[in-house]
This record gives sequence, structure tokens and C-alpha cells, in this order.
Amino acid sequence: MSGIQSKSLKTSRCTGVFQVNNAGIARIPGQVDMVPLSEIPVEDAAKQFATIYETNVFAVVTVTNAFLPLLRKAPAARIVNVSSTLASFTKIKPVSAYAAYSSSKTALNALTSHYAAELKDTPFKVNSVCPGFCATDLNNYRGTKSASEGAVIAVTMATLPADGPTGGYFDDNGPISW
Ligand SMILES: NC(=O)c1ccc[n+]([C@@H]2O[C@H](COP(=O)([O-])OP(=O)(O)OC[C@H]3O[C@@H](n4cnc5c(N)ncnc54)[C@H](OP(=O)(O)O)[C@@H]3O)[C@@H](O)[C@H]2O)c1
Repeated sequence: MSGIQSKSLKTSRCTGVFQVNNAGIARIPGQVDMVPLSEIPVEDAAKQFATIYETNVFAVVTVTNAFLPLLRKAPAARIVNVSSTLASFTKIKPVSAYAAYSSSKTALNALTSHYAAELKDTPFKVNSVCPGFCATDLNNYRGTKSASEGAVIAVTMATLPADGPTGGYFDDNGPISW
């Protein structure tokens, strides 16, 4: 899966543009082992969280707002935020070693809701997706799906028809509980 894409799209289902906010990190650069939340050194904690949030949350606002003027010109625009089931409060039991990553994706889901609400009277659809556990750099290729298989849900939400959902959170099996 590549970083951030905004491409013209012309299919039988939809004519418009989409943006997939796919870039994400699960650990700080150079980090090998995941550390439980309570064991992050005090002097490093804020910096570690800020590094993860910078890519997974703050940059999404920067990039989305940069592309919004272009997306607004399209007859249909789709924004897909690539989240994770680890963001869910109800589906997954918290794993403290992934606190920065999972909470950043929870914040990303909140951004999805806010953008969807703000754009509700427009042709935009804004949704979060989880690609599933894919073999990529993110998890040292331990995932059980291929990156291409993981991309299917993002493509589905990027090519939603006009009566498709907005402000939701989905994987291949349908809506994920927040
Ligand atoms: N793999 C999984 O099992 C899994 C599960 C749930 C959710 N996800 C989500 O899926 C998305 C894609 O992850 P992946 O599994 O494909 O991981 P990946 O192979 O590590 O890819 C991450 C991508 O994000 C880009 N990126 C990271 N930091 C960036 C930054 N500061 N600026 C611009 N681009 C940056 C990377 O670009 P470079 O290659 O140039 O560094 C790379 O293209 C992420 O949002 C991840 O959280 C993955």
C-alpha cells in the first residue's frame, strides 16, 4: 500500500476523486520491541506519542485540508482514512504496548466523524477502514493477508456510490463497532 493517493476515478459506479490517507506508523523509528505503556521512560513519553500522532493524526488534517479545495470541485469525492481494528473500544481488548498506535487510530476515527459531519450536505463520503492483518513493514511481515487483499476495503470505500455510507468505520466484513 502506498502513502497518500488522490487520483481521478472513473468507474461504472462513480465519477469523482478520492483521497486515501494511508500513511501510518506503529512504532517510533528505530524501535524494535514494543514497550508496555507504563514502562515508557517519563522523559521520552510525550515525544514518542507525538511522533506516532504526527503521522497518524496530525498529518491527516494537514493533507486533507490541503486537498479539500480540489476535492470540492469534483461531482463526487471520497476520503478514506486507513485506521485499524486496534482503534476500536469495543471490538478489541486494549494491548498496552500498542497504546500510542491504537489511540492514534482512535483519534483518526474521531477525525473521520468530524469531517463527515462537516461535509454531510455535500457529495463527500468520509469513512475509516481497517485493512486487516497484512504482511507489511508495519508488522515485520507477520500479517496473514497480502497488502493487495488489505487494500480491497479502501478501494471499496473510495469508489462508493452516491447513496453509500459516510462517517463510518469498516472492514471486509462490514461496519466495525467503535
Ligand atoms: N499491516 C497491517 O496489518 C495493518 C493493520 C491495520 C491497519 N494498518 C494501516 O494500514 C496503513 C498502511 O500500513 P502498511 O501496513 O502498508 O505499513 P507500511 O508497509 O509500513 O506502510 C506505511 C506507509 O506509510 C508511509 N509513511 C509512514 N510515515 C510517513 C510519513 N511521515 N510521511 C509520509 N508517508 C509516511 C510509508 O512511506 P515510506 O515507505 O516512504 O516510509 C509507507 O508507504 C497504515 O495506516 C496502518 O496503520 C495496517
